[in-house]
Amino acid sequence: MDKILISGGHKLKGKIHISGAKNAALAILPAAILSDGICRIENLPNISDITLMCRILADLGVDVKMVDEKAIEIDPRKMRSSVASYELMRSIRASCYLLGALLAKFNESTIYLPGGCDFGTRPIDQHLKGFTALGATHNIDGGMINVRCERLVGSNVYMDVVSVGATVNIMLAAVKAEGLTVIENAAKEPHIVDLANFLNCMGADIVGAGTDIIKIKGVKSLKGTNYSIIPDQIEAGTYLTAAVATGGEITIESVTPKHLESITAKLKEIGAELIEGNDSIHIKCSGDLKRCNVKTMPHPGFPTDMQPQITTLLSIVPGTSIVNEAVWDNRFRYIEELRRMGANISVDGRLAVIEGVENLTGAPVKATDLRAGSALVIAGLAAKGKTVISNIHHIERGYESIVEKLRSLGADICRISEEEIKSTEACSV
Ligand code: EPZ
Repeated sequence: MDKILISGGHKLKGKIHISGAKNAALAILPAAILSDGICRIENLPNISDITLMCRILADLGVDVKMVDEKAIEIDPRKMRSSVASYELMRSIRASCYLLGALLAKFNESTIYLPGGCDFGTRPIDQHLKGFTALGATHNIDGGMINVRCERLVGSNVYMDVVSVGATVNIMLAAVKAEGLTVIENAAKEPHIVDLANFLNCMGADIVGAGTDIIKIKGVKSLKGTNYSIIPDQIEAGTYLTAAVATGGEITIESVTPKHLESITAKLKEIGAELIEGNDSIHIKCSGDLKRCNVKTMPHPGFPTDMQPQITTLLSIVPGTSIVNEAVWDNRFRYIEELRRMGANISVDGRLAVIEGVENLTGAPVKATDLRAGSALVIAGLAAKGKTVISNIHHIERGYESIVEKLRSLGADICRISEEEIKSTEACSV
C-alpha cells in the first residue's frame, strides 16, 4: 500500500486549479439514470469515489462512457433494475442515492445498506420518511434495503434533521412523482442546488433549492442534457487552510467564492488576508494568527467536512480554541494521530479543546477517513521533519492529484511505496 511522505516547513506559494465537487457529482451521476436520453457530465473530479459510482451504475446496466479524464456520457436506456455488488455499494455512502433514483425509475429499488466514512452512526431514517410520504413501503433484510411502491404521489415532508443525503434522495424520488412534493427543513448545500439545476436542465420542475423549502412538481419524463459540475468548496477550503498553516501565499482558481463564505470568514477571523475574484481566491497571512472557536453546522454554517482541517490549523495557533462538531457524533478520531505529531488537544464528546503549540513534529500517522487524511497532510506540511501518512486511499477518495497539486505549490511531498519508504530521503521537489 502506497504512502504519502512529506518533509514539512515549506511555505506554499503559487496557484492551483480546484476540481469539480465530489458531493455534487455523487448526487448527479445517479440522477442521470432518470433521463430518457444520454447525459454528458463535465468537470468531474478524477477521484476514486467517482470511479466507484461509475462502476456501480455500469453494474446496474447503465452505459457509462469516458469522454475524457473529466467528462463521461451516461446512457441509462438499457438499464435493468438489478442490485449492484455488495462490495461496490458498501464502499461509498452516496450509493444510497440509488434508492431514490431506482424507485423513481422502476417503482422499486433494492440496494445493500451503504458504507462511507466511519464517524458514528449514519442512519437513513429521514430518507425512508420521505419515501414513505411519497407512497412507498420498505423493508431491511440481510443487509439489504428494498423500497417499492405502486406509484409515487407528491407529498409534504418535514425533515426532523437537516440531511444532505435525505434531501437528495427525496428529490430523486419526487422528480417524476404525481403532483407536488414540498421538502421542509431541507439541506441547503451548494451540491443540493447543483443537483436541482441538473434535474431542471433535464426538464424537471424544482424551485427553492438552496433554501429551507424545496418544491418539486413531478414531470412525466426527463431528457438527456449536458451539465458541468460546480467546483469543490471543501477541496478549496482545504488548500486555503494548508496555505495558512504553512505561512504561505497561494491563489486557488476555478472556485465559486460564495460557496465557501463560512470557511473564508473563519480563516479571516484567524488572521488570514483574502482577496476574492469572480472565480478565484488569493490568501496570505502577514500578521500573527489568532485563536478562535468553531461550531460545525449545515450550510451556510461552517461545514463539518472542514472540521479536521481547521482543527489542525488551530493546533499551531497560540491560545485555546474550541471546536464543536455539531453534525456527527464521532468525528475526532484523527486527533489521536495529531497527538503523535505533538498536538495538545483534549476531546470530550463533540467538543475538542485545542491548546496551540509552537509547532508540530513529523511522525508516522494513519488516515482514518477522507477529511481526517487531508488534515494529516496539512499537519505534515506545517510540521518540522518528516511525516509518513498511510491508508492514503481515504484521501484519494476525495482529492484529485493532491500530491501533484501540493508539489506545484512548493511542498516537499511525494507518494511512495512501502519498499521505498526505508531508503528514501525527503523527496526532491
Ligand atoms: C453528506 O453525508 C456528505 N457526503 C458528507 O461528506 C457530509 O459530512 C454530510 O453530508 C454533512 O454535510 C456526501 O455528500 C456523499 P447527512 P450524509 O445526511 O448525507 C443525521 C465528505 O467528507 N441523519 O447530511 O450522509 C446524521 O446522523 C463526506 O465528503 C439522520 O439522523 O450526511 C448526521 O448527524 C463525509 N437521519 C446529520 O443528519 C438520516 O436519515 C447529517 O447527515 C440522515 C442523516
